[in-house]
Amino acid sequence: MPNAHLHELLVDEMRDIMGAERQLLKGLKKLAGAAESPTLKQAFEEHYDQTENHIERLKSAFLNLGLHARGKKCKAMEGLLKEAEEITEEFEDSPAVLDAALIAAAQKVEHYEIASYGCIVTYAELMEHREVKELLGQTLAEEKETDERLTEIAMTEANVGEAV
Ligand SMILES: [Fe+2]
Ligand SMILES: [Fe+2]
Repeated sequence: MPNAHLHELLVDEMRDIMGAERQLLKGLKKLAGAAESPTLKQAFEEHYDQTENHIERLKSAFLNLGLHARGKKCKAMEGLLKEAEEITEEFEDSPAVLDAALIAAAQKVEHYEIASYGCIVTYAELMEHREVKELLGQTLAEEKETDERLTEIAMTEANVGEAV
């Protein structure tokens, strides 16, 4: 296998994002519960379903490498979700700002995922793990779409103030 020196790193990154995706399921439930705008609520709910699928893809990727699908606690996701909770509490009583705050928190999460999957897909390509590259490349594309969708919601409703 080419670039075998990347093997441990690839596996470690996959375990980290596996843990992160599992932690995120709980976080997305809270974000959906807190969102004021029905569009934003729906975006979070749909990403919850996608996230379940991301976990399934990771399981297939581990299987493809002949490994147990084991995750580890992702400290970064833990911190991002903690901050999401803090910001939700802070703006709970300001509905005009709350959704913008939730979008900011969710986009930080998406960017973390995009960075992780981006690295994983690159390693898989360099190591010629075609199946892993294909599977997790689909997830990477969905994380990017989610990020763009959140920007779209921010530009069209969440961050747009009332005309005075
Ligand atoms: Fe994900
Ligand atoms: Fe995501």
